[in-house]
Amino acid sequence: DEHDHHDGNDDHELRVSKIRDGTVIDHVHGGQALNVLAILGIDGTNGEEVSVGMNVPSDRLARKDIVKVEGRELSQDEVDVLSLIAPDATINIVRGFDVVEKHRVERPDVVEGVLSCPNAGCITTGGEPVTSRFSVLEDGVRCSYCETIVRDEIASLIDT
Ligand code: CTP
Ligand code: ZN
Repeated sequence: DEHDHHDGNDDHELRVSKIRDGTVIDHVHGGQALNVLAILGIDGTNGEEVSVGMNVPSDRLARKDIVKVEGRELSQDEVDVLSLIAPDATINIVRGFDVVEKHRVERPDVVEGVLSCPNAGCITTGGEPVTSRFSVLEDGVRCSYCETIVRDEIASLIDT
């Protein structure tokens, strides 16, 4: 039945535990989970309780990653930037073990302070206190300061 493959579990195992209250970021393309955490600024140093499943079997995608953040409800703004690397992600808000909200990520028009410009001559990379800013294109992102366009390697621009 449709519940056979949640989180890549079958009838015998649940690979990543359910959470009580927080956010489940589901249907992340395989291999992008660590980039999801980087974009959300989660590196574990603040004591966040985070579970990550990587390359688990999925009905919808061949393989998926899944990220579960306990005790934190991510806002739509916070997750929209995830659309750049996880366009098919589903955001589930969980309260008392129940999914109370489910939404898809949406592509924002602009992304600020999350990506760093690959152009060494850009004012945002020269040690000036300028926050990075990219406009989101159909097929990539463009630095608002130097107009550099990045299409394929967006994940490599994530500020970690
Ligand atoms: N989940 C969780 N902890 C909970 C409730 C749900 O970790 N207390 C996870 C589930 O394991 C699943 C995701 O949140 O990976 C979404 O849960 P649910 O909507 O119940 O599953 P599906 O119906 O399979 O979701 P979708 O239709 O989006 O695939
Ligand atoms: Zn630039």
